[in-house]
Amino acid sequence: MNPPITSAAPQAVPETSAVADQLGRPLRDLRISVIDRCNLRCPYCMPEEHYPEHYEFFSRDERLSYAEIERVARSFVGLGVTKLRITGGEPLLRKDLSALVRLLRVIPGVEDLALTTNGILLARQAEALADAGLHRVTVSLDSLDPQVFAAMSGGRGDPAVVVDGIEAALKNGLTPVKINTVVKRGVNDACVADLVERFRGTGVILRFIEFMDVGTRNHWSREQVVPSAELLERIGSRWPLTPMEESYRGEVATRYRFDDGGGEIGFISSVTDPFCGDCTRARLSANGELYTCLFAGKGADLRGMMREGASDGELEARIEELWGRRSNRYSEQRAGIEHPLRKVEMYQVGG
Ligand code: GTP
Ligand code: 5AD
Ligand code: SF4
Ligand code: SF4
Repeated sequence: MNPPITSAAPQAVPETSAVADQLGRPLRDLRISVIDRCNLRCPYCMPEEHYPEHYEFFSRDERLSYAEIERVARSFVGLGVTKLRITGGEPLLRKDLSALVRLLRVIPGVEDLALTTNGILLARQAEALADAGLHRVTVSLDSLDPQVFAAMSGGRGDPAVVVDGIEAALKNGLTPVKINTVVKRGVNDACVADLVERFRGTGVILRFIEFMDVGTRNHWSREQVVPSAELLERIGSRWPLTPMEESYRGEVATRYRFDDGGGEIGFISSVTDPFCGDCTRARLSANGELYTCLFAGKGADLRGMMREGASDGELEARIEELWGRRSNRYSEQRAGIEHPLRKVEMYQVGG
């Protein structure tokens, strides 16, 4: 599967310098969180007990404006990034997200422009996003059963609405549409087969994600992780599967094809089979901090330097310096290190 090709007129792609970190990993992907708010309260990400209705998320002024995000994105692309992913919190809560899509899609060198969403607002925005030039969406959906969905979403939202969003994405060509399903033992692991049955043969690519110890507030325990190998065995015994090649170096999901032609599924196994060795991802929080790992304790402030008048060259040099110093490989070290006291929360960097 190749990333979709933009329908914009061909443009000259600038020469990019190869920036590598301490472990020789190039900078290829930038994940941009546009807002830290969410309309769900998934206990594995933003548990209601810590994030009640009136919790103070970033104010408008604290968040990067679309023009600032575009500036940062251009710097990253100048350093070798070809994939951009817009995330949240829930990115569709940010006003007129299509305007940002229009700014990002024309940056020369951007080959893949994707969005991660919980799907609640997708049915009404899919057409505008596609018209603005978004390539594809990934939708989070943990169960089709309303009660189990509620247990995974903190009692908010409705799986039927998310499925409508997925259908709208398909209809508007935001493909390949992928689904992210976080699996927690004893909560939604019995729903896996229903999801496979519903989406096999539709062109939608389901991916099962091991529950991760992101942040410090989601009551993670290893007992609640369902190893991908176990799911693979369960799914494969009902629908025979064959492993597929990586579609690009450092792909997060391990992919399998249904032998009967029902399409593909994936497994994201950060706990049982970490993939730090090829990790080329940088993450930008909504307030303009750069994180070089999903499990980093601290980000580096890019907003401050932009608002103090830094030039494009200075911004790029700072990012290059931060990436050059990077040595993160948390998932590979997980078992051998003391649990850090401070880790960024998932909703602040959008997964
Ligand atoms: P594409 O292959 O571009 O479609 O994206 P992807 O497979 O990276 O998928 P996506 O961005 O939707 O990521 C899926 C999930 O994998 C995230 O929500 C995280 O839970 C997990 N994930 C993604 N990147 C990383 C990473 O760098 N480290 C860890 N530990 N988990 C990650
Ligand atoms: N473990 C695994 N995946 C998670 N996500 C959020 N929190 C966790 C966690 N603790 C996933 C969501 C969504 C993406 C943004 O991150 O399911 O697909
Ligand atoms: Fe919201 Fe996504 Fe976090 Fe769930 S996982 S609370 S949908 S940001
Ligand atoms: Fe990359 Fe950090 Fe995830 Fe490892 S744990 S794959 S270094 S983001």
